[in-house]
Amino acid sequence: MLASCQQHSYPVDHEQLSEEERIVIRFSHVVGEDTPKGLASRKFAELVKERTDGYVEVQVFPNSFLYKDGEEISALLDGDVQMIAPSTSKITTVIPEWQIIDLPFAFETKEEVREYVEGPVGEVLKNKLKAEGIYPLAFWYNGFKQMTNNREPLKHPDDFQDLRFRIMSSEVLYEQFDLLGAEARVETFDQVFPVLNNEELNAQENTFSNIVNKNIHTVQDYMTVSNHGYLGYLVLMNGEFWQNLPDEVQIVILDALDEVTEWVKELAEEVNEDAYQELMDCRCIEIHELTDEEKQLWEDAFLPLYTSFEQRYGELYINHLPKFKMDH
Ligand code: SIN
Repeated sequence: MLASCQQHSYPVDHEQLSEEERIVIRFSHVVGEDTPKGLASRKFAELVKERTDGYVEVQVFPNSFLYKDGEEISALLDGDVQMIAPSTSKITTVIPEWQIIDLPFAFETKEEVREYVEGPVGEVLKNKLKAEGIYPLAFWYNGFKQMTNNREPLKHPDDFQDLRFRIMSSEVLYEQFDLLGAEARVETFDQVFPVLNNEELNAQENTFSNIVNKNIHTVQDYMTVSNHGYLGYLVLMNGEFWQNLPDEVQIVILDALDEVTEWVKELAEEVNEDAYQELMDCRCIEIHELTDEEKQLWEDAFLPLYTSFEQRYGELYINHLPKFKMDH
């Protein structure tokens, strides 16, 4: 698009340029290529290449190939990579207030999550990232998390007692299981399969697509379809790198991200539906869909998390959640 426009400042014969002369954006993430994030990052790279006629190259490194969880945030801050897309849960190591998204049953639909992230609270939370030198560019979708374990179907809050869960690095997630008498341990995404396979841990929570993509269903016997928490991603760029990009490159990036974000919104749902179908078809994991009555019991059991979040970070974040917003 812009490459054919005479107004831009790209060198025209980009084919002759070395890597040093082009703009190279290294984009690291931890999941497989056929997941919503894997597909979205590849599409983003293609659009940027096409629209800058190859002058800007986004190099995508999936599957924790370059950096694992945690490491990728440091790598972004150090400028070793320019883009990452961690789950909102993982960015809480930098800005703990992002844990608001982890509160169980805080959101019923992906639209609610999006409105929250794109609304005034999200704006405040994004500004906190900017203050740390991290530029938030977009919010990408995966889906709602489900519970798996290899002991029994999880129906009642008491069923969690003494299970050992792998979690992402978020205090709310730790407390979610602690509250129910379960153990919770932070493990990087690449370690989920190994620690479940060698039975160091016996439970975890994730989306259908991540469960299938990481073969988690082959080492877990039970899955409860609970949709209790949303797994979404913040697409982040190193702040200084962003500031130094020419305006026209920033515009191409933002345009491409707008397009990919809309695309992945629908795609993520399809990928997760397909993965759920695969889990039903494989007959390798016993599936229980949480009933409304059971869901109510879980919601009641998790209420103390809201109080503890409010005490730590203030009521503002909680009051803007869709489930409480009507009252204010
Ligand atoms: C991801 O989807 O990026 C990984 C989620 C996880 O660590 O469970």
